[in-house]
Parts: sequence; C-alpha cells; structure tokens
Amino acid sequence: MKDALPRTIYLEDYRVSNYLIDRTELCFLLGDEFTTVTTKLHVRRNPDCVELSAEALVLDGSASLQLLSIAVDGRVLNESDYRRDEDTLTLWGLSERAFIETTVQIKPQLNTSLNGLYQSRGMYCTQCEAQGFRQITFYLDRPDIMSEFSTRIVADEQRYPVLLSNGNCIAKESLDDGQHAVTWHDPFVKPAYLFALVAGTLAVIEDNFVTCSGRTIALKIYVEDKDKDKCAHAMTSLKKSMRWDEQVYGREYDLDIFMIVAVDDFNMGAMENKGLNIFNTAAVLANQATTMDATFQNIEAIVAHEYFHNWSGNRVTCRDWFQLSLKEGFTVFRDAQFSADMNSPIVKRIQDVSFLRTHQFAEDGGPMSHPVQPDAYMEINNFYTVTIYEKGAELIGMLHSMLGVETFRQASDLYFERHDGQAVTIEDFVVAMEDASGRDLQQFRRWYKQSGTPRVDVKSVYSKSRRELTLTFQQACPATPGQVEKAPFQIPIRCGLIDAKGMPVALNTAGDEELVVELTEETHQLVIDNVEAGAVPSLLRGFSAPVKLNYAYTSDELAHLMAHDSDGFNRWDAGQQLAINILNEQTENSRAARPLQLGGTLVETYRQLLSSTDVDAGMIALMLQLPSEALLHENAGEVYPLAIHDAREFVKLTLAAMLKEPLFDLYQRHNQRQVYAPDAQQIGSRSVKNAALDYLMLTDVGVELAWQQFCDANNMTDQAAALRALVSCSASGDLATRALTQFEKQWRDETLVINLWLQIQATDQRRGTLKRVENLLTNDHFSLKNPNKVRSLIGAYCSANLVNFHAVSGEGYAFLADYVMQLNGINPQIAARLVTPLTRWRKYAQPHGQLMHGALQQVADHPGLAKDVHEIVVKSL
Ligand code: BES
Ligand code: ZN
Repeated sequence: MKDALPRTIYLEDYRVSNYLIDRTELCFLLGDEFTTVTTKLHVRRNPDCVELSAEALVLDGSASLQLLSIAVDGRVLNESDYRRDEDTLTLWGLSERAFIETTVQIKPQLNTSLNGLYQSRGMYCTQCEAQGFRQITFYLDRPDIMSEFSTRIVADEQRYPVLLSNGNCIAKESLDDGQHAVTWHDPFVKPAYLFALVAGTLAVIEDNFVTCSGRTIALKIYVEDKDKDKCAHAMTSLKKSMRWDEQVYGREYDLDIFMIVAVDDFNMGAMENKGLNIFNTAAVLANQATTMDATFQNIEAIVAHEYFHNWSGNRVTCRDWFQLSLKEGFTVFRDAQFSADMNSPIVKRIQDVSFLRTHQFAEDGGPMSHPVQPDAYMEINNFYTVTIYEKGAELIGMLHSMLGVETFRQASDLYFERHDGQAVTIEDFVVAMEDASGRDLQQFRRWYKQSGTPRVDVKSVYSKSRRELTLTFQQACPATPGQVEKAPFQIPIRCGLIDAKGMPVALNTAGDEELVVELTEETHQLVIDNVEAGAVPSLLRGFSAPVKLNYAYTSDELAHLMAHDSDGFNRWDAGQQLAINILNEQTENSRAARPLQLGGTLVETYRQLLSSTDVDAGMIALMLQLPSEALLHENAGEVYPLAIHDAREFVKLTLAAMLKEPLFDLYQRHNQRQVYAPDAQQIGSRSVKNAALDYLMLTDVGVELAWQQFCDANNMTDQAAALRALVSCSASGDLATRALTQFEKQWRDETLVINLWLQIQATDQRRGTLKRVENLLTNDHFSLKNPNKVRSLIGAYCSANLVNFHAVSGEGYAFLADYVMQLNGINPQIAARLVTPLTRWRKYAQPHGQLMHGALQQVADHPGLAKDVHEIVVKSL
C-alpha cells in the first residue's frame, strides 16, 4: 500500500467545507474492461465558511481513479491547472459558483475490497459508507455535503436488464449496440455515502404499502432468480417496520418507491442507501427449510434498522464521522424497541444485554476502547463498533427512561423537525432532548465523551432495631487509553426489594415497589424504612445503565431472586451471577489441579426451572444456558482459557447427569411437530428443546436423540441444532461425519446453508479441529473473497471455538495471523475486524498472552499493511 504513515483525524479539527455541492449529475458507462464515470458538480462557495485562506476546492478521490478529463465552467483544464495528489484533486480560482465536469475510469471487476463500485456474482453494486464514494469519482466525500443527485446508468441490456439507483426512475432509453440507459433522480438532498447503484439480472418481488397519509409506496425486493422463494419474510418485516415507525415515532416514508437488493459479497449486514437499501443475502433471504429461527429474527431487525435510517440517518444525517452514533446508536435503539414490540421484549432485552456484556465490555476494557463519540481515528471503518452501536443505543435507552415515553417522543419529534435536511451532531440531539423535556443533561453528556465501563459497588447495612436497610452505591471508572481520570457519571439504577417470602417490598410511604436511584456523585446512599430482616435487593433491573454492578450476594440470595424477583430480567441475571460464581470457583480449582465439584444450589435451581410451568419457554431456554466462555473471558481479571473451558464443561456435564430425566421430559414436551412459524411462541419452544438437547448430548441418550432430530427435522433450526450437537459430541463417532456429509449433499446449492455447515465445523469443540478447518479452506465451498464465508469459517473458529483457538501450542494464533495478512491484500475491512481476538493478549495468562502478542507482532511486521489493519494492530501492541 502507501508508504506514508496513516494520518490521524481529530474531531477538534472539524471545519465546515468551503464549498457546497447543490447538484450532482452522474453518468456511469458500465463496460467489461472499465467503467467510465462522468460527474457534473454544481458547486458554490459556502456562506458559512469564514476562513480567508480556504480558497482552493479540494476534492477527495482515491489513487485508483484514472482521470480522463476535467473541465470548469465548460473550459477543459490542462495538467497545470489542477493538482492531483495521492487522494485529492485541487482546483484554484473558482468563481462564487462553478460547474465542474470530470471523467474517470475505474475497474469494479478488480475491486475485492467491496468498498466503492464492485462486482458480486456478475452484478454491479456499490457500498459508499463511510468513504467509498471517493473510489468512484472525485467529490467532497463528507457527510455534511448534502446534494441533489441524478444518476444515468448505461449498460448492456442483455446482461444488465435491471439498472437501479436512488430516488425515482425518470427515464429509460434503448441505445445502439445492445446498450440501454436508465436515469434516476433523488429529490432529497443527501451525502455521498448514501449513494447507491445496482446493475444486473435480477428477479423482483413486489408489494405495496399505504402510508398513514394515504400515499401508496411501491415496495420491491431484488434477488437472484433462484432466491425468489426467500423474500416473503423480509417483505413482511419491511411493512411492519413502516407501520411501526408511523405509529411509534410519527415517521412517514417519503419517496414513492422503496427497494431492497440482496448481494452475496458484502462487508456488513446491510446499508441504508436512500430508497435503495443494499443487503447481504444473509440478512434478507429466509425460508423455513434453509433459515434458522435466530436468522428470521435477525432479518426482521436488520430490515427495520435500515428502514428506520430513512429518518434517523438520511433525512437527518451526521455532520462528520465522529457523530456516527447519532445515527447508529439511535437506530439500534429504535430497532430494538421494534423487535421487542414484535416478539418477546424480555428475551430481546436479555439477548442484547448478553451481547453488550460480552463484546462491548471487552472492547471498552481493551486497547481499542473509545467513547461513544470518539475524538480521533485513523480509519473510520474501524469505528463501526459495539461501542458506537450498542453502547450508543444504551445511552438513548437511558434518555428514554429518564424522560418517559411521551416526553421522549416529543423530543424525538423536535429533533426530526428542527434538523430535517441537515447534517448534525450528537450535541444537537441532546439539546433537542433538553429543550423538549426541560431537563439539564449536562452531566449525562459525559456518557458520550468518557470511555470505559463504570463499576458500581453496592453495599447494604441492615439495622434490625430501626428496621432500616441502607444501600451505599459507589461508582468508579477504570482508566482507558488516553483517559486516566473520569468524572462521575449520571447512572440510573432501577431497584426493588424482595422479602424473605418472595414478595416485593414497598420502598417508600407512597408504596412504590420499584425506584430509580440516580447516581450523580461518586457515592450515594439510599435508606429504606420498614424493612423486615432477610429482604434481598434487586438492583439494576432491566440493565438500566451500561455498568458493571457488584453486590456480594450469597448463593441463597441469588437463588431467591431467581425464583421470586418480580423483574424477569433480574431473575435471569441472578441465575447468570450464580453460575458465574460457581464457574469462577471451578476455574480456580482446575488451575490448581484440585478436583472440581458442584454444590447443590445450582442443581436445585435448575431442577425447579425445568419443572416450572409459569415461565415461558423462551425464558427457560435462556436461563438454562450457562454464561458463554467469551463472557467468562471478559469477566476474568487474568484469563486461563483452558481452565475456564474445563470448568464450564464440568458444570454442564454434572448438571446433565443430575438432571437427565427432567431434561429429557422437557425435550419431549417441546418436541412437538407443528406447522412451522417463526413466531415468539414456536421459537421459544424450539430453543428450549435444543437447549435441553445440548445438555442431553453429555448423557447416554444424546446421540440417538440428535440423530433422530437430524433425520426428522422439517426446519433448519432443528436440523442445524442436531448437526451441531452431533459434531461437537465426543461420543457421536462416525454419525457426526455421516450427518455432515448428508447435510452438504442436501444443501450444496444453498450458499447460506453451506456457510452454516462451515460454521458448525469451525466451532467443533473436539480436538483436531484446526486441521479440519484448514482442509475446509481449500474446499470449493470456501472463498477468501466472500466475507460471509470468512466469518463462518475463520471468524467462527477464532471467536466461537475458544478452547481450540487458545490451544497452548499457539497454532490458533498463528493461523489467525496468517489469514489476517492474506486478507489484508484482499479486503482490509474484513482483515481488520478479524484480528480482534489477538488484540486482547494483555488479559491472557502465559503462555497465551505472549503467543498472542507474537502473532500480532507478526501481523504488524507484514509489509504493505492497510490502514485498517495497521490502526488496530499498532494500538494494541
Ligand atoms: N450503515 C450501516 C452499514 C455500514 C456500516 C456501512 C459500516 C458501511 C460501514 C448499517 O445501517 C448498519 O448498521 N448495519 C448493521 C446491521 C444493523 C442491524 C446493526 C450491519 O451491517 O451489521
Ligand atoms: Zn445502521
């Protein structure tokens, strides 16, 4: 790549652009050898720019653009009239208004980065967020430049009958030589990152939606012909999202057409281009035979997320990329609310909190820790993180509960109304929240600027004579890169109290059984009167703030909360905490080569759970799942990956042995054949059945049960769960191989199912998996150029097969380093994301830490490291 050291971009260096682009006219000639892009820019001095020195117009444009011609106000420029640098083009002496016309050539067929214009299975498509547009043409490629776009696409009519771009189709022409042209116009101003183009042979599934004001919107989903039977779920999800956004946020769709296109090669899940969302096939295609329940739900959420961006992101966009959470955090919050409304709210909340605790807490405690509003970056693509997304969403969630549903809605209305058509900041959002509510959010703003996960330690003192319970809260936030001292956060902690009989206690004279304690200082005291001895506090209900809360519960107290807490989330959380405590003890025992043991409390609480009839199936499934190894790694001070694995396997095995009968009963009760539907009730039922199967695999009935289920399954959830169970089971013998072979034979033409087949093999917990993974890398079903396949095989092995990845030989680390370096030359964004597990080396006990560090160093020394990988590696060495 480049010799120059990657530059760091700082928030404090933000300046408004000296020029604006009022209109952008694009013309694409899609040719086999190259694509020619002609761009007409109607530019004008920005009246808001006061800097005198800001005379020149500096357009972004990557080195790969081959400039054919450039003209200003009709006059063709000579090479001496402009300056071309590595990734800019500079023009001087423009008038107040100017008309700039450039022609460039690009080669999308060679673009493996999947950024900018590229080809995927014979079709052309684009990905412009964050800075892909500069790989297509010279432009002011920054989100605060909002322009009215029109796009003409010219291509071979036979091979590219479908030509799409943003907005409305305004012209279609048949041309000579078998070419045709289509022109699109988008009446809404937008930044370049929302531009999209698609060309190919595509089938279309059509429907429509009547908005709240009575307008009819044409809905179209474009896919390869073979996938036409997998679009119904996405279409239903889209219509639900459109209705929901009207009802809950008062947001109506604006254009007359809304399109979704599915492509196989895509770096992310999906992209919200105005009127033309582009989706990874994995995030849109679904049917009962090929798609797991979790994927059905994921598709519903992603379709909603991208649709919701039409307001939170497109109509109101980001001023600069430091404001990324303005659109992503808010939109994740919105899609989570939507998913909660469509499915089981508590299951959704538990899944989200588990994800945040496992991944965001790990990021926040590691070398890439950054605030929700970062103040510096080298490569913006590295900042599409769990912190920007999930922690950002938690911050909106806190505002939502602090303001209350109605005031939050008023504030959101104010934000959209005030900033429609603008590129704004997180500060603008917070001000709208303040203005609508009258609340002072000065201290709350610290959540956006300070990185790290705050810790809240809670201590209780009970006075029997005064019948008084005093809770003392103490907050602190560990140092993170670049931030040593932190000021106290405003932390809303939702609390209750459960008495010895399991009943909620009134916390004040008004009789409230739940309170929100708002911490603002380092310490805070809450005194509750009239409390009988033996009451157990239920703290941080619903995970009311993204913090780590510590309270020295006894096992009995946790079991009590698990059985009686009136807050369902905390019932689950108590079970998790109980299991974590036991797993930590057994990890210690394993390290010290002491015998492992499991006391009665966990077995008894699980036994109760298995026989309970008042808890819904989805909840039982979640409560049956032991905390993941990844979560235990995050939680540990120093990580002993193999001891953690042993401890967890031991606990699982013991539970399975002690509870075989009730687990078997539970399995049978939920092993009901029914007409498949991906609804909350059925999904819950299948997940509890498969959670039971997971335990039963450790007993003598497992293999037969799993094989039966594999052969009988009428849906992918059950089939894949059975395959996974067989594959990771040491007793399954050649049945695992038989099932894998059969599965491949059945599904070899369904690439998404094959990805699942790869993933199941990559997460095989048995020994020797690396060899099998390496074999699969040469299988025809694998390609390094397809991000889904890379994630399914290499990504899954390194982040979801921790016992193998962390083998003491260091072979897992060397393997990852090797593929990061290979991918660096193919797709730097994917390479940078893949390297994450190695960056956490400081947390790992020896020899792991050192070996991980060595592998990381090897990547750092690789010549020609892309900026994406470079940033992550140097920050974590
Ligand atoms: N705007 C992003 C897609 C994106 C991210 C493009 C990074 C370019 C670089 C999109 O809205 C998004 O966030 N997609 C998520 C899914 C969503 C449900 C959180 C994704 O693709 O994972
Ligand atoms: Zn998004």
